[in-house]
Amino acid sequence: MVDRPILKTALCEQLGIEYPILLAGMGNASGPELAAAVANAGGLGMLGATTLTPDELRGWIRKTRTLTDKPFGVDILMPEALPEGGDAQDLRAQLPAEHVAFIEHLKQLHGAANSKGRELPLTEAFVRSQFEVVLEEQVPIFATGLGIPDWVEKDAHAQNITIISLVGSVRAAQRVKDRGADIIVAQGHEAGGHTGRIGTMALVPQVIDAVGDTPVVAAGGIGDGRGVAAALAMGAAGAWIGTAFLATQEAFVDYIDLGLFDQATTDHYRQRLVDARSEDARIYRIFTGKTARALRNKFTDIWDASGMDTLPMPLQWTLVADLQHGMMEKGDPEFQAFFAGQAAGMIKEVKSAGDLVLELAHDTVDIFARQLPNGLVVGP
Ligand SMILES: Cc1cc2nc3c(=O)[nH]c(=O)nc-3n(C[C@H](O)[C@H](O)[C@H](O)COP(=O)(O)O)c2cc1C
Repeated sequence: MVDRPILKTALCEQLGIEYPILLAGMGNASGPELAAAVANAGGLGMLGATTLTPDELRGWIRKTRTLTDKPFGVDILMPEALPEGGDAQDLRAQLPAEHVAFIEHLKQLHGAANSKGRELPLTEAFVRSQFEVVLEEQVPIFATGLGIPDWVEKDAHAQNITIISLVGSVRAAQRVKDRGADIIVAQGHEAGGHTGRIGTMALVPQVIDAVGDTPVVAAGGIGDGRGVAAALAMGAAGAWIGTAFLATQEAFVDYIDLGLFDQATTDHYRQRLVDARSEDARIYRIFTGKTARALRNKFTDIWDASGMDTLPMPLQWTLVADLQHGMMEKGDPEFQAFFAGQAAGMIKEVKSAGDLVLELAHDTVDIFARQLPNGLVVGP
């Protein structure tokens, strides 16, 4: 095995990275330790900052800079239709009585500790305050899922910040291109976290055709070198990978430090990933109010059996936060959102993130150089 195989696309030069392998900015998983490990191994590191306060985000950016001198980015979910302002209490006040009663019932029934989840208001004012930190700290790459609000482009481009936008359809791709996206991640249905309806193989070529010279990166279901090679063969400029990086030693650790997850929950999540079949990673609205792929668990089964409907984002997120926190304190991890994609079925062990980057690069090179399927005949 060559120590450092060569695998480059034009995207590598654009982003200042060695390999076209991008860590997805995953809330609850992609902290400074993981982002820096990926960056140091030659990929692009991303911080998943959606659930951080502005001060916490600033701390993470600075910590990442102590761990790597390579470029890295920040990812913040910015749904376009958010309430303008208000605090967590204002959002709670909008929760329907029936839903609040249901959650109270579950808390009693399952003995949830009477503790509060994060009081972060998912409002426009809040995500703007997070974005301000990206600008102030001069982070060179900014990624966002669920659209690009119209106030992002001017400030980002004034500072030469590269905007990466995640989309699940051709229409969304055209829209974010108009909103200033410099790189578009075409994320297929297989993906973990928020996801759309179109599979990666069908989506990526269509997005490439639709957005002209804007580079397109493939995401969703890419779990090994075969997936990376397939993405590049389709014309993608790189691969944006989430689920496979969850099964690494560096995932989650900074979230534990912030108290957003605890060690027992994380150990359980990692084991569930190793044990999971692809069928276990299903689409639910119960965690955030939008369709998101996560591992089936006790909470998803309870909700499905209840017949309750879900609330729109951000109300559903607000609704379930205390129950999840209370159950984590009680010591039952099975109420958390174990976001994961269908690639979970490919995870066999937990390894270091740097080893995973190198393995992906090596296996991709090997496929292009030597390992195309037996019996494949090509000619002019
Ligand atoms: C645990 C988890 C958390 C995620 N959180 C975010 C997020 O906060 N922001 C975002 O843009 N995408 C998020 N995603 C989606 C990823 O960015 C990415 O598109 C997806 O993981 C790619 O598909 P894969 O999981 O099959 O590799 C998340 C995915 C996972 C698995």
